[in-house]
Amino acid sequence: MSGADWWNERAQLEGTVAVVTGGAGGLGEAITKDLTANGVRVALVDRDEAAVGRMAASLTDAGHDAIVQVGDARDPVVLDTLFDATAQRWGRLDTLVNVVGGTFRAPFSEQAPKAWDALIRTNLTHVLHATSRAIPAMRAGGRGGSIVSLTTIEGYRAAPNFAVYSAAKAAVAQFSRTLAVELAPDRIRVNCVAPDLAPTPNMIGIGGEGDADSHPLLDPLNVRVSIPMGRLGTPSDIANAVVFLASGLSSYITGTTLHPDGGTFACSGWFNWPGTGFGNTLPPDVLAAIQGS
Ligand SMILES: NC(=O)c1ccc[n+]([C@@H]2O[C@H](COP(=O)([O-])OP(=O)(O)OC[C@H]3O[C@@H](n4cnc5c(N)ncnc54)[C@H](O)[C@@H]3O)[C@@H](O)[C@H]2O)c1
Repeated sequence: MSGADWWNERAQLEGTVAVVTGGAGGLGEAITKDLTANGVRVALVDRDEAAVGRMAASLTDAGHDAIVQVGDARDPVVLDTLFDATAQRWGRLDTLVNVVGGTFRAPFSEQAPKAWDALIRTNLTHVLHATSRAIPAMRAGGRGGSIVSLTTIEGYRAAPNFAVYSAAKAAVAQFSRTLAVELAPDRIRVNCVAPDLAPTPNMIGIGGEGDADSHPLLDPLNVRVSIPMGRLGTPSDIANAVVFLASGLSSYITGTTLHPDGGTFACSGWFNWPGTGFGNTLPPDVLAAIQGS
């Protein structure tokens, strides 16, 4: 059996149907392209009109059967339209990928309740709405299904200045773990994918600290010190994990989180200092340099 035949037999993605929220730009773009490359028919909604236009053209050029809509995935009516269109066109649903999410940097004590509400709607409530629409569609098919939500490393560790985002993403992880058990008899699997640094234009803009050329998080020395594998994540690193969770290769995996982050979650608090190697405190030369400055 060739590698391609082995993959197709185990992955069983060809001809399946996926809904992707935020599927036109950032990590969602990579996820949509990798799913469609595996023969998955994708229905997506994204609020970025330009990104939607580019994605629609790209899918058409590649000959993919897809539904591409502009809209705000936080709006339940928008989700209804997308799920209805999916049911009418293809009559089945196998995968839901909740990509939509986002944050901004601010101490909790300086945030108004309106800001909390916005963060919770984007990062948690939209997941609840989309998932509630996916479950009956997957159940009706009787083939099981896979629900994958993008969380973040910040949902699994403290995230100063991102408290509500961190809380909302942690809630998505716990929601997913619980739902995985509720839906296991239906063979509907529920998992999360938690990136750390996989730069996208919006992610780079979050702290207002610079662009792709000057952002301190992307500085090669920072990357070498703070990411054990010594490189930034790419959208493909994250899409690979999503494709795996959508596929039959993960058919016995539910209620868990994959961490495509180059080891940052595992190392929490440890840094790979040039010269001295891994340590969880400042090395003496760095400390002396800071004290002397
Ligand atoms: N990129 C990273 O390094 C990173 C790290 C940790 C977690 N994440 C998580 O991964 C997900 C995607 O991150 P990203 O960097 O690709 O973000 P992004 O802001 O680029 O969003 C991805 C897509 O979703 C769309 N979108 C955003 N809000 C929407 C809404 N309300 N309705 C419809 N479309 C909407 C955007 O237009 C974009 O095309 C988020 O949930 C984020 O929290 C990303």
